[in-house]
Amino acid sequence: AQAALLEAENATISQGVVESNHPGYTGAGFVNYDNLAGSYVEWTIESAEARTVELTLRYANGTTVNRPMNVAGALVDFPGTGAWTTWRTARVTVPLNAGANLVRATALTAGGGPNVDSLTVGEPGQTDWSVA
Ligand code: GCU
Repeated sequence: AQAALLEAENATISQGVVESNHPGYTGAGFVNYDNLAGSYVEWTIESAEARTVELTLRYANGTTVNRPMNVAGALVDFPGTGAWTTWRTARVTVPLNAGANLVRATALTAGGGPNVDSLTVGEPGQTDWSVA
């Protein structure tokens, strides 16, 4: 199946702001999480049936300190990427219910989350998103 890309700047944001001062993002910008535990971005993912998906979060972390987050109940690491303009991906496999699923990425440490560009919903292990 085609993977669906959901921009962070279009999601629900709690304790974060949309910015565009670090190039390399897709869409209109990215979310700069406030620097505290508990800040989050929440996406709504619609699924026709219950299934397992792999979420790919595209992010930048210009510090040398990991900024782990709880993503849909799973602990995901977001280690430093070397610069705020260097964007990398972190992946996690999660179950979806049939219907609307709220997927929240919540910062777990005082640094807050990394800068988050987007969330892509794909098949587990999917690497080529150009084919069905
Ligand atoms: C810098 C950077 C921001 C980033 C912030 C942070 O201010 O410019 O984009 O979000 O650090 O540490 O979270």
